[in-house]
Amino acid sequence: NNDQYLLAIETSCDETAVAIIKNERELVANVVASQIESHKRFGGVVPEIASRHHIEQITVTLEEALTEAGLTLDDMDAIGVTEGPGLVGALLVGVNAAKGLAFAKHKPLVGVHHIAGHIYASRLEKEFEFPLLALVVSGGHTELVLMKGHNDFEVIGETRDDAAGEAYDKVARLLRLPYPGGPEIDRLAAQGEAVIDFPRAWLEEDSYDFSFSGLKSAVINKLHNASQKGEEFKPEDVAASFQESVVDVLSTKTKKAATAYEVNQVVVAGGVAANKGLRQALTETFKDTDIDLLIPPLNLCTDNAAMIATAGAVAYKQGHRAAWDLNAHPGLDL
Ligand code: KG4
Ligand code: ZN
Repeated sequence: NNDQYLLAIETSCDETAVAIIKNERELVANVVASQIESHKRFGGVVPEIASRHHIEQITVTLEEALTEAGLTLDDMDAIGVTEGPGLVGALLVGVNAAKGLAFAKHKPLVGVHHIAGHIYASRLEKEFEFPLLALVVSGGHTELVLMKGHNDFEVIGETRDDAAGEAYDKVARLLRLPYPGGPEIDRLAAQGEAVIDFPRAWLEEDSYDFSFSGLKSAVINKLHNASQKGEEFKPEDVAASFQESVVDVLSTKTKKAATAYEVNQVVVAGGVAANKGLRQALTETFKDTDIDLLIPPLNLCTDNAAMIATAGAVAYKQGHRAAWDLNAHPGLDL
């Protein structure tokens, strides 16, 4: 039979994940072992702990994925793995596991860019129609990426300081919310009102870049000034006001770029794509346009291997092969 299977491994941060994809777009296994509980008491991901968890989890996660698919390694046509960007010690576990499997089973090895994976998560829902604009909003990245074809990425705008997810996590820490802060702020924001007027960093007229550090400082100052006066803002209102500022800039710039580049689709990618406020605003923004908006289901927004499998399957079809000296690349460019 002509069915083609690719097994993908993702270990760039704090999720050990393995997925298997059939014929580029059909997911037959998707297993994610999260370490969030282990990092919570430190208020963030501890790289050393992440690496150790990956080494403990990788083999059982692989076994679970093969069982879920009812397949064996011999059925695979290729092995894909996230080579970067991410935490080097975490990436090395996945890269080394993938190499071992590929070498032992004589399978081709494909290196995948983590952000390409986030973008390709949407292709599980719907076939891409180029030109396409991706809004990438994760813990480490915030960028607008223009795609004129498969695996063809042009960054037309990016953050000049903090990533959107990073801003969420930092503001969450100010409000003494547990890690990861993004989902916590999202939850609080839904119960509050955007009564505080936080700044929006539009930057230069023609720029698609972002900046979130000023907003973070504004939140710090507001909270500080209030406490000096013995006043207090409701955390729900701080969350709602902060979120409105982030979402306003993200959706406005995405709309502007999508129109200017005359794209057929807008794809939202990365952990912050799980944000309810952002999903709502973008849905509203593109409702009456002929631009198709693709947002992955919640479980495919945050880190997973299904997205690495879709991106890897495309790269494999295009003939990309990693050599046996494949390494982890913590700062890999798109
Ligand atoms: O893509 P991701 O899982 O990992 C990276 O590649 O960075 O993104 C993680 C980021 C974290 O900053 C987390 O707080 C944020 O995504 N995040 C959210 C939500 N869910 C996750 N931010 C806002 N609202 C959410 N619902
Ligand atoms: Zn990610």
